[in-house]
This record gives sequence, structure tokens and C-alpha cells, in this order.
Amino acid sequence: MLKDSTVSGSSSISDIVPHSSPTLGDAEETALLQVIRGGHPAGGPEVISLENEIALYFSHPGATATGSGGQALLLALVSLDLRDGKRVALPAFTCSAVLHAIEWAGAEPVLLDVAEGGIAPDPAALDSVDGPIDAAIVVHPWGYPLDTASWKEAVPIVIEDCAQSIGALREGLPVGSTGDAAILSFYATKMLCAGEGGMLSTSRNATNERARDLRDYDGKSEWAPRFNFKMSDLQAALARVQWSRLPEFLERRAAIASRYHEAVQSQGLIPIPPAPGATASWYRYLCWSPTDITDMLEFCNYHGVHCRRPVPVTLDRLLGHESLPNTREAWNRVISIPIYPALRDDQQARVLNVLGAAADKGLIG
Ligand SMILES: Cc1ncc(COP(=O)(O)O)c(C=O)c1O
Repeated sequence: MLKDSTVSGSSSISDIVPHSSPTLGDAEETALLQVIRGGHPAGGPEVISLENEIALYFSHPGATATGSGGQALLLALVSLDLRDGKRVALPAFTCSAVLHAIEWAGAEPVLLDVAEGGIAPDPAALDSVDGPIDAAIVVHPWGYPLDTASWKEAVPIVIEDCAQSIGALREGLPVGSTGDAAILSFYATKMLCAGEGGMLSTSRNATNERARDLRDYDGKSEWAPRFNFKMSDLQAALARVQWSRLPEFLERRAAIASRYHEAVQSQGLIPIPPAPGATASWYRYLCWSPTDITDMLEFCNYHGVHCRRPVPVTLDRLLGHESLPNTREAWNRVISIPIYPALRDDQQARVLNVLGAAADKGLIG
């Protein structure tokens, strides 16, 4: 029985601490109203302004707003000619959106194991792969910036997946600014919320032009199969307000993370720090447990503190062959505990209270 009488208010809805929650307020409401009253819910100026702001941030010649991060990934692959059996490496310990995009592009996904004791592959993982690799989708996982430079030395094309990591830095540079292309997601739980939405930004002029052409099939005089992957101005208006608030969001996430660091260690968890030279976006606060987290998760969720595994299923398991041991170890032992700008101090205290009760019950280590 996982119930613990020392944890107060265990199952009342008002006490529930969600795993993630968006931060939307008056400025977002005003921006939406302006679009509605302005009469351009699509094809208006908000999308172009958002694209310009993101391209400027990455120092790229252009960016293309899309309806989702998954669409941005597929558009990136097609625009970079990563189709028809081209071999694209990706981590097995990530969101399945990456795998879906590679499959729809007609490329061949090559799953990589995470480094031993880590949450992401490094380029050494390519040593165990037979045959050449045409590109890698480097997912900066859960806000932790990876070393894009080392991937650029290892593969011809690097797409940086920044769906979880906008605002994170590596050697002072924004993640997403040093690969061939970067994608973002504006899904409800992401760093910036527009409900749904995505962005492809690229350092290559030709790729940018191609992506802009392929995103929209209307008004073309020459035939080519294209998409409707457009973002609406309603989404763009929301995303622009959220974008302007990114510094505030990053500061709040970092403050929550710094309060967790010592407290979770005293309960037997091992927090995962960013690499030297890296500044995390703290999209998620991840810790290693000394042992399998199944019982701890059940306990925390029962007591209203919604914790999760970073992914519900690893991609090797999703494809029906569980072949990557370090990935399995990470799935078994890494826990994600609530962190987001709207998390109040009393909610964070409740998270720690419930984790403490889990530790007392011997569920951690
Ligand atoms: C790493 C990663 N890449 C891509 C995506 C796809 O983004 P979207 O949900 O906007 O399609 C996600 C979403 O969960 C993600 O976590």
C-alpha cells in the first residue's frame, strides 16, 4: 500500500501539483484579442514578425513558422533532402515525434543508445553503427544543451531539436544556432506555449527558401508535392508574447532548480547537472534514482505530486526491439519532477514533502 498518512491532503484536487503547466496571462489575452479584432487570424503580420524574431536570435537568414514541432522536423528533413533511404541518427531516449518525422520523410532512422550513465548519446555512439550516416537529429534533451560542435565533426548534416531547450546556452551560444537547422515547438507544455506551433530556422539560405516554398501549396505555378504546415496568426501572437517573456521564464525555472539541487540529494536522488560550459533551460528537472522508479512514481502520483519518466516509452521498445542497455537504464531510473514558471513556492515545498515521505518509505534507493 503506497498511501502515507504523514503526507497531508494527499488526494484533494486543489492540492495536486501537475507535472507541467503553461504560464498564460493578460498579455497573451490582449495579443489574441488584437488578432481577432484585426481580422487577420491567418496570413497576417504576426507570423512574419515571429519568424524574424527567431531568425535574428539564431543569427540565421530566415525561419519558417509551422503548425507544430513535428511539422518543423519533417519540413527540415525534406528541405535538406534527407529522404529516400538517407540514414538519419536519433536518440532512442526521446519523444517519438522525431522518429515519426524521419519515417514520413522516407529516411532510415538509426537509433542511438545514450552514453553510459547519461541521458543523451554522444557522437561515440556512431562507432557501433554499421555504414555511413547522412545526418543526425541532435535533441537537446529536456533543456540540457549538448555539444553540437562535436556532432558537426561526426556527421554531414546536423538538425538541432530545440523543442525543449529554447533559451539554453552552450559556450555562451544559443542552442540551435550552430547546426544546419534548428526546430522549436510551441506546444502547451513547452518552454513557450502557443497551444500548438513550431518553427524551422536554418543557417542555409537555400534550405530556408525551400522550406518556405514547401510549407504552403497555394499560389504556386509549378507542380511539386507540398504541405499545408502553416502557423496561424493567433498562434504566432501568443508565441510572440511568450517569446518576449523567455528571460522571465528562464530566471524562474533556474530559481526553482537551484532550490531543488540540495533538497533532492538529501532524499537520496542524484540531480543531473548541465555539462561544463552549458546553461540549461530547466525545461525538466531530472534526477537519477539509485534504483527503479516505478514505486516512487506511483507513490508521488497517488499523493498528488505528478512526476513522470522523461518519456513514456523508449524508441527501441516502440519499434519492438529493446536493444539499447543504457537507454533502458535511464528509462528505469530517471525521474522528472515538477518545474515550470507557474510552480508556486508552496507547491515546490509539497513536492519535496512527498519525495521525503517516499524516501522514508524506502522507495528511493
Ligand atoms: C524533443 C521533441 N521534438 C519534437 C517534438 C514535437 O513537437 P510538437 O509536439 O510541437 O509536434 C517534441 C514534442 O513533444 C519533442 O519533445
